[in-house]
Amino acid sequence: MRHMIASRLNSLLYNPDASAAEQYHIWFYTTKVWERTKWMNVTTYKSPSDMWNYQEILSSLKPGLIIEFGTAFGGSALFFAAVMRQIGNPFRILSVDIHPGRIDNKTKSDPDIELLTMSSVDSRVASRISSLRTEFQGPAFAILDSDHSKNHVLSELKMLRPLLNSGDYLVVEDSNINGHPVNPMWGPGPFEAIDEYFQEFPEDYYHDIERENKFGFTCAPNGFLIRR
Ligand SMILES: C[S@@+](CC[C@H](N)C(=O)[O-])C[C@H]1O[C@@H](n2cnc3c(N)ncnc32)[C@H](O)[C@@H]1O
Repeated sequence: MRHMIASRLNSLLYNPDASAAEQYHIWFYTTKVWERTKWMNVTTYKSPSDMWNYQEILSSLKPGLIIEFGTAFGGSALFFAAVMRQIGNPFRILSVDIHPGRIDNKTKSDPDIELLTMSSVDSRVASRISSLRTEFQGPAFAILDSDHSKNHVLSELKMLRPLLNSGDYLVVEDSNINGHPVNPMWGPGPFEAIDEYFQEFPEDYYHDIERENKFGFTCAPNGFLIRR
């Protein structure tokens, strides 16, 4: 009882300002610890708290298809595959990268991961997504993590427009760059692409703010989107 009261009091008395999370975010990014983050020994350029958020999203969404733009080493694709196998429904992960050279053998040989070597905005990617949506029923989870220039992300968002349905989940990664709050010199990137997309198509998605805020910081600010 004493411990319960102490714990409740502790929470009530704790009154952090937003800068605590922001300082941690800037530390996480600037030390480049994200470049040394691994899933089962395969590098994944993610924050662990974002990965945990994705695990929670996948477990409740139970998608049939995961669409990943930007494979890199393939650690994130392997992570998604491991989570999806625990869920137990039939699924496929489509992971697209223009430069396949770094992809780990574990990712290449995973039977649930399909790799495409081309630009994410190539029309063959859209048509493959379309066929996989028919083959693997249920919602889709898409994550944009390839070329982080504003124009490229905007093209990806527009390409996915006819391919995503109500209830599908879309994460636009690395919207933290260009001063949101890291790497202020970067130039227009994913954050600005989301802004422009919403100006053109304000009704397509709503922001999953609760999810975005859950762990105090995310590398995808403004980027947790649910299709209306
Ligand atoms: C940030 S890394 C991806 C990280 C990976 N999703 C992870 O979490 O570990 C970005 C990747 O996007 C790829 N890329 C760059 N431009 C691309 C494009 N136009 N289409 C597809 N992939 C692209 C790069 O080759 C690079 O491997």
